[in-house]
Amino acid sequence: MVRRPPVTPRGVFIALEGGDGAGKSTQLELLAEALRLRGVVDAPGRPELVLTREPGGTEVGAQIRQALLHGGDVAPLTEALLYAADRAQHVAQVVGPALQRGAVVVSDRYLDSSIAYQVEGRGLTEAQVRGMNAYATGGLLPHLTVLLDIDPDEGSRRRAAGGGPPDRLERAGAAFHRRVNARYRSLMAANPDRYAVVDAAQPPEAVHAQVLASVMAVLAERGLADLPPSARTGKHVAGVGQ
Ligand code: TYD
Repeated sequence: MVRRPPVTPRGVFIALEGGDGAGKSTQLELLAEALRLRGVVDAPGRPELVLTREPGGTEVGAQIRQALLHGGDVAPLTEALLYAADRAQHVAQVVGPALQRGAVVVSDRYLDSSIAYQVEGRGLTEAQVRGMNAYATGGLLPHLTVLLDIDPDEGSRRRAAGGGPPDRLERAGAAFHRRVNARYRSLMAANPDRYAVVDAAQPPEAVHAQVLASVMAVLAERGLADLPPSARTGKHVAGVGQ
């Protein structure tokens, strides 16, 4: 059996999670812009910022994404394996090397998407999905996962208003998306030190302020950003572990 050596990151790994329609793409852009404007990343002597996503953050991943979201029927176990395969390539080709270079890596979705969607949504066991992902990633976990918490019905309204036909996951139905949302919340509640929960029903600027504060706190903990003294007390940000 081929075993992947664990990644021992020098950089900082942050994942953004949330149900469909939570506004992750918008928040990723706002976060990148703010970190660059503050000179926290991509400036002389500062770490590089790497923005990436799952599924589809690599060339083969783009093909896996196409099969997962726009192809025909996919059995639940196949679906989980394909997401894990996409992740294996993503860690091998993008996330791992970037962390070794000392980058700040922000990924639109990571492992918790598989726990929420494939375990809770599709009904696979947590042991199955955690096992295949530990194998796929060498056990790499984010330093911080930010959950954009959105009511699933509101999320599907927003998605529908955005236009375009729903993909295979978005067609999975309201009950599926409610289970996904509930699982996200319990994942975050179980490990508040590694998660920040932000109410994504707020206006985008308010969501952004909280996302940025939680990210800055983690960067400061790792010596990569300064925080104002008022922000040094307590865990990452108001809203953590709600
Ligand atoms: P994404 O591109 O984030 O879509 P959206 O912008 O609509 O949220 O993700 C594509 C879909 O893949 C999304 O419905 C969630 C699903 N997904 C899983 O089911 N498991 C996973 O491990 C990942 C990474 C995504």
